[in-house]
Amino acid sequence: MNLPLTRRTFAAAASLMPLACTAPGKTALAPASPPAAASPINPLVKQRADAQVFRHDDGFYYMTGSVPEYDRLVLRRSKTLAGLSTAEERVLWRHQASGPMSGFLWAPELHLVDGKWVMYFAAGPSGGGEDVFRIRTYAVVCDGPDPMTGGWSYLGEFKAPWDSFNLDSTSFVHRGTRYFSWAQREPGIDTNSNLYIAPMKDALTLSAPATRLSIPQLDWEIRGYKVNEAPAMIVKNGRLFLTYSASATDARYCLGMLSIDETANLMDPRAWTKSPQPVFVTCRETSVYGPGHNSFTVDAQGRDMLVYHGRDYEKIEGDPLFNPDRHTRAQRLYFDASGNPDFGVPVGNGPLPERLIPAVRRGAFLVQDGERLSVGTAPIAQTQLRSLDAGDGTVRLSPILKPDHALAAAADGTVTLAPLASATGDASRFRREAGKGGSIRFASVAHAGRALAHSSDNVRLAAAADPASAWLAD
Ligand code: AHR
Repeated sequence: MNLPLTRRTFAAAASLMPLACTAPGKTALAPASPPAAASPINPLVKQRADAQVFRHDDGFYYMTGSVPEYDRLVLRRSKTLAGLSTAEERVLWRHQASGPMSGFLWAPELHLVDGKWVMYFAAGPSGGGEDVFRIRTYAVVCDGPDPMTGGWSYLGEFKAPWDSFNLDSTSFVHRGTRYFSWAQREPGIDTNSNLYIAPMKDALTLSAPATRLSIPQLDWEIRGYKVNEAPAMIVKNGRLFLTYSASATDARYCLGMLSIDETANLMDPRAWTKSPQPVFVTCRETSVYGPGHNSFTVDAQGRDMLVYHGRDYEKIEGDPLFNPDRHTRAQRLYFDASGNPDFGVPVGNGPLPERLIPAVRRGAFLVQDGERLSVGTAPIAQTQLRSLDAGDGTVRLSPILKPDHALAAAADGTVTLAPLASATGDASRFRREAGKGGSIRFASVAHAGRALAHSSDNVRLAAAADPASAWLAD
């Protein structure tokens, strides 16, 4: 959060900146369903920053987030992740006419605490000047089991360790204990906000002194402003991963990550490991700037998803705090061989991309590297392809890092990257078909009976029935 006046007193030297087979002409295979028809399209929800999305055990996805006006707490829900884009949004509570919650309302989060729906949020007064940034954490509570239809009323203020700027709280239960994690300015530390954790006695009260988890000290944490904020937790592969956001809320905003063994004492700061590098940053190739303030959820298949906000342009007129175009975005979250999250890059606007794995060569992927296509291993971003509707049930396959290009097949079987602007013919159109065992084929429209295939480390056309034409989508 960029506090124009206050934060400037803490400003560091701002360093601007980082898819079976038929013999030719024979039996056609049933067309496969395209990537889940209800697959999200980014941006998932426009002008909602700081989004919290989770799938509750009632089967609904719930979403809240900051609105550009910062004047109300909102909630929407949908049976599908994609459905959040158009879901009706309800206003649960509005800032007050006067007093400490009459100004900005920031970064709400909805949690079920001791059987009650509680929405935490940061709020400040409306007095103007420096006072509007007297931000503290509060909560409202629902009077019934359905947060979309229940009545909401003020619950109280979070009893923070210090009477100072605090925001972006989250809560989670680990091994039977509920924890609270938040960002706060600590008296005596020359930063805008640091990260803290503590167990909770009730929805607004800690049951032990807070542990300080992180102070913005690394160069990528103090670009423009010294900020660690917006903690979000995911537990996977025996570890807890706490992501957080750092630096100014313009294109320099990015994700950092702390992690700890799930059996360790979360209150021991020495048990946590801090990634020395940011884990998710601006990507000019995909035109997503300032990705951050994330949450975690799962898709319809239960696969991990990263939710975050980001702008699709870099240059901001005026204070980023008042720029409305931090859109909510979602994408697959993958994990590396060590079980750690590998965030890749923000994938950019459009349908969610997939990774294509040769069905007979697991562990390899279709890879784009510059103008070159190959089959092998590579950083995630080089393996993500977006299926673009090419009409008549066909698609064009476009690498996320070259969104103005698509795969194009020649009569001699070679497959190259062609500019989308000129890839208007059949050479770049493929029909996605169901293969055996959950595989898919991308049958060439221009070259009947042949399909996208791998040949050792190369990408070529082969007979659609050739096992090399079978791919798995992940
Ligand atoms: O979006 C308003 C505030 O700005 C959020 O609380 C913080 O995470 C962001 O930087």
